[in-house]
Amino acid sequence: MIADTFENAGYFPRECSFSPSDWGILSEFWYPVALAEDIEDKPVKVRLLDENLVVYRTSKGFVVAKDLCVHRGSPLSLGWVEGDEIVCGYHGYRYNMEGKCTLVPSHPDWKPPSKLCLKVYLHEERYGVIWACLSDQPKNAIPDWEMEWNDQKFRWFSWGPIVWDCSAGRAIENFLDNAHFSFIHRNTFGQESSAEMGAEYKLEPFEHGLIMDFDYLAGNPADSPIKGTDQLQRHMNRTLTYPFFTRSRIQYPEGKEQIIHINVTPVSARKSQLLFLFSRNFDHHVPVEDLLAWEKKILLEDKCYIESQKPEEIPLDLSEEVHVRADKASIALRRWMIKIGLGRDFTA
Ligand code: FES
Ligand SMILES: [Fe+2]
Repeated sequence: MIADTFENAGYFPRECSFSPSDWGILSEFWYPVALAEDIEDKPVKVRLLDENLVVYRTSKGFVVAKDLCVHRGSPLSLGWVEGDEIVCGYHGYRYNMEGKCTLVPSHPDWKPPSKLCLKVYLHEERYGVIWACLSDQPKNAIPDWEMEWNDQKFRWFSWGPIVWDCSAGRAIENFLDNAHFSFIHRNTFGQESSAEMGAEYKLEPFEHGLIMDFDYLAGNPADSPIKGTDQLQRHMNRTLTYPFFTRSRIQYPEGKEQIIHINVTPVSARKSQLLFLFSRNFDHHVPVEDLLAWEKKILLEDKCYIESQKPEEIPLDLSEEVHVRADKASIALRRWMIKIGLGRDFTA
């Protein structure tokens, strides 16, 4: 049983909304928890898998720790950062970047015991995003965005992190689903006449996920930032990196390319934090606000459906639903979830 090999098996947070077994499995993945640019001089509280974390910036890098001062259980996110240490706002205890308590102000000559220690989590800053894992032995890989990150022709912008009322499973399933373009997105880029194109795609597994490849003839209404044509031929290459991250590379004629990264982080069983990162190598004269307004319009079309699906969780008994060929990516996602040991009542 794969679940038994997970390091966090047996531990789960207070008020945990996952089954203990599912929590143990999900806690062993990297997740994006914050944008680096959003973490300035104050500690910031984030929530991952029902665990409260504090993220803060020091002169030597970021720290991601449990948002709990072990003295009397106060959140460190109410405190402040001084000299690369986090200071609890309640009694002023200080913790260094490794989590060790360095000072108890009421007894400044006392050497704090090792038990007085913050739980610091594995974290990494990559592509302007702070990734964290609740385990010391992550079972997934941080996705590879090197190509667009290192290419100066790509302009980046973002939306989020924002929290939607949905399970991470339902959210990521939507962003793997190409057959919904022609319907959910009929007021933006979807065209009913392209419905069969959205259903036909190549799907290949790789070590950390799935890769899809297909063409889609999209509509291009007047409020789209791309001007001069009422239809756009898109070539789409989409990668799912397990568990919940997609990278969609969309190529238009004449070398125009945009890449959309959608990252879903389970906050709790039915709440997900979404972080959208967009990059494109064209239309640099268009204000970012206009590009973002268009992307948000599309994503809010998704949100409306994702937040209202029933059951809220993805059924992991394949016989409970009817599947068609267009659903092969979401079937592959379900099979992977079953393989890693998520329960039938998986609700991430
Ligand atoms: S609760 Fe943090 S110093 Fe007392
Ligand atoms: Fe969509």
